[in-house]
Amino acid sequence: MTTSPPPNPGFPASAPARPRSWAEPWKVKVVEPIRMMDAPARAAALVEAGYNTFLLRSEDVYIDLLTDSGTGAMSDWQWAGMMMGDEAYAGSRNFYHLEDAVRRHYGYRHIVPTHQGRGAENLLSRMLIHPGNVVPGNMYFTTTRLHQELAGGRFVDVIVPEAHDPTSLRPFKGNIDLAALDLLITNVGAKNIPYVCVAATVNMAGGQPISMANMRAVRELTGRHGIRVMLDATRAVENAYFIQQREAGFAGRSVAQILLEFCSYSDGCTMSGKKDSLVNIGGWLALNDDTLYEEASNLVVVYEGLHTYGGMAGRDMEAMARGIVESVQDDHIRARVGQVEYLGRKLQEAGVPIVLPVGGHAVYLDARAFYPHLKQDQFPAQRLAAELYLDSGVRAMERGIVSAGRDSTTGEHHYPALELVRLTIPRRVYTQAHMDLTAESVIAVHDTRQATKGLRLVHEPRYLRFFQARFEPLD
Ligand code: F0G
Repeated sequence: MTTSPPPNPGFPASAPARPRSWAEPWKVKVVEPIRMMDAPARAAALVEAGYNTFLLRSEDVYIDLLTDSGTGAMSDWQWAGMMMGDEAYAGSRNFYHLEDAVRRHYGYRHIVPTHQGRGAENLLSRMLIHPGNVVPGNMYFTTTRLHQELAGGRFVDVIVPEAHDPTSLRPFKGNIDLAALDLLITNVGAKNIPYVCVAATVNMAGGQPISMANMRAVRELTGRHGIRVMLDATRAVENAYFIQQREAGFAGRSVAQILLEFCSYSDGCTMSGKKDSLVNIGGWLALNDDTLYEEASNLVVVYEGLHTYGGMAGRDMEAMARGIVESVQDDHIRARVGQVEYLGRKLQEAGVPIVLPVGGHAVYLDARAFYPHLKQDQFPAQRLAAELYLDSGVRAMERGIVSAGRDSTTGEHHYPALELVRLTIPRRVYTQAHMDLTAESVIAVHDTRQATKGLRLVHEPRYLRFFQARFEPLD
């Protein structure tokens, strides 16, 4: 990495403050070949996929920035752990390693493994949400909101207004708007709010963090009303890193210490281990309350598996236990977020409109600013992701009107303020050269933006339509 580092503490005070490079705290041991198909083949693949990058074959992709979910590279220590899988149906030793890692680094008392994050969301929503309930949160996430709705609840967004403004430079755009939350509690009544759902680094807002001060304040406010706080801890380590870098009083504390304090203001969490925890599959539900845990460990048997494996192989639990330990190391997380910032800076310098500040796991292109001549129901972000694939075989993901889906009561499109394309960086997978090539491709697509037309929706699935919807170009 040749990005400017945080101040090097090893420098003598008198030396000129010349920036020094830093590099990833690992070296490559195994490689996987990738190839860029020629332009006609890419065009054919895109038509075949209905202009939806989710429907492309991975073999046809050159640099895969669709998601950071389950796409990371495991360490040799994690792979060694896979060989230590105890595949007993009940009481696998790897479960206890996982439980220990979660207790030590996240601080929760009980853990129920699930096959991935949405498995935990399903259990939590079924246990706590009753028809007619309201679930406030800092911006929706697709699967989280759907599980809340399927349980009869209604999600209400209480994120701070600047989260909807891609140009706002505020450091904690994932924060909860405390006044809005307070007003909501007054209006609907605390008894109708089973919990507040707090996401650490808000995916749909561009990977924006929430501050420790805000988390404490949410705890204080909800505590007065007896309302639980449930964290979506999927990218809480990245959030802890931003607190260390941006929030007064945290510069001298380790990411591991910050993470523990952050989680202490919640009653439990849902977790997709496929992100922060550096594994290809897995998740968990964590709870402090004994009675709730009792219920969850019973319910998991119905949907996932016994409470000591919950949809995961023993070897996968071991890989996740070890991934958790690796994920909270300061040098790991600095390199991880640093690579995202590197790509973001390149695009910003070239005048490409992106969400600022650059988030933890991805650089988000602002498709509204990219294609101001397109209306939102012409799917500008979907089109932009398609154009990027056409240009270079780089695969990105739409995070705009298609992802937002339809209002479950009116059936109308949700029209989110943010119409984004996400360039999501897998952990420990791509090099700086891959980032350079990606930036060049985005800049090339930006150069020809005026001629680009929108898309028409030709197939729309009922649930989470963005995964399988199909489109045709308007030109
Ligand atoms: N919460 C957040 C914030 C997420 O980003 C995801 C998944 C989930 C929950 C669900 O977890 O996939 O393990 O079931 N996000 C992926 C993404 C799919 O690409 O952002 P899961």
